[in-house]
Amino acid sequence: MTAQRVPRHVAIVMDGNGRWATRRFLPRVAGHRQGVESLRRCVRACSDRGIEVLTVFAFSSENWNRPKDEVSGLMDLLLLVLQREVPRLAADGVQLHFVGDRTALSARLVSGLSKAEADTAQNTRLVLNICFNYGGRWDIAQAAAQLARHGHPITEESLGRAMALAHSPDPDLVIRTGGEQRFSNFLLWQSAYSELYFTDCLWPEFDEAALDLAIEAFRGRERRFGKTSEQLVAGHQPQPLQSQVA
Ligand code: IPE
Ligand code: IPE
Ligand code: MG
Repeated sequence: MTAQRVPRHVAIVMDGNGRWATRRFLPRVAGHRQGVESLRRCVRACSDRGIEVLTVFAFSSENWNRPKDEVSGLMDLLLLVLQREVPRLAADGVQLHFVGDRTALSARLVSGLSKAEADTAQNTRLVLNICFNYGGRWDIAQAAAQLARHGHPITEESLGRAMALAHSPDPDLVIRTGGEQRFSNFLLWQSAYSELYFTDCLWPEFDEAALDLAIEAFRGRERRFGKTSEQLVAGHQPQPLQSQVA
């Protein structure tokens, strides 16, 4: 049996902005700006296709190692997104969550993130998780630290509930644009049973047609969750291994 028609939760490593810009003799940050345009288009497309949750990797815990001007360009861009994009996203029924370590971010950014989350908390059309200063290892460690602080036992269930993405089901489909075939410390815990899709398409060029190709590939996959093909009776999806359920 193949996967359901449309993935419930799509997660994307939005890679390739720098190369997109360099090929056009533009500064890398121009690629990141174009990446925001691509994200806006992708949010609409996911919403139109009935996808419930979209999670995107915008800044990794390792991206601090980039040149200073690129890092500050990305921080400025996040501020711009908060000012310019959030009202549009709110109007489109998007519920925003920023996922990652906020301790290293400026006070202005932190209050902007919280305000955007509060302003969109009642929206139900699409959940958009923006992973910013996120690392999969950070996430697992912070969840374990939370449990240890409260003296709670560490189990798969309790860790899953303490993870930064506990408000969303595990991703069904993880897409990486830009041609690399690695996770780069994205959702290490949550993607245990995600279908993986890699495309050479650079993020600024990832459009509706590219998304449809990824969904098409997903539909062709057989999700067995450890079972055999024969056990998957037609018409019944196997129970996903969920660390948490929204
Ligand atoms: C991804 O694009 C966006 C971020 C990591 C912020 P890149 O900036 O990594 O683009 P390439 O991989 O250099 O082309
Ligand atoms: C992963 O891309 C992080 C984001 C897309 C935000 P990178 O470009 O940072 O990953 P590596 O360095 O090629 O592994
Ligand atoms: Mg990259």
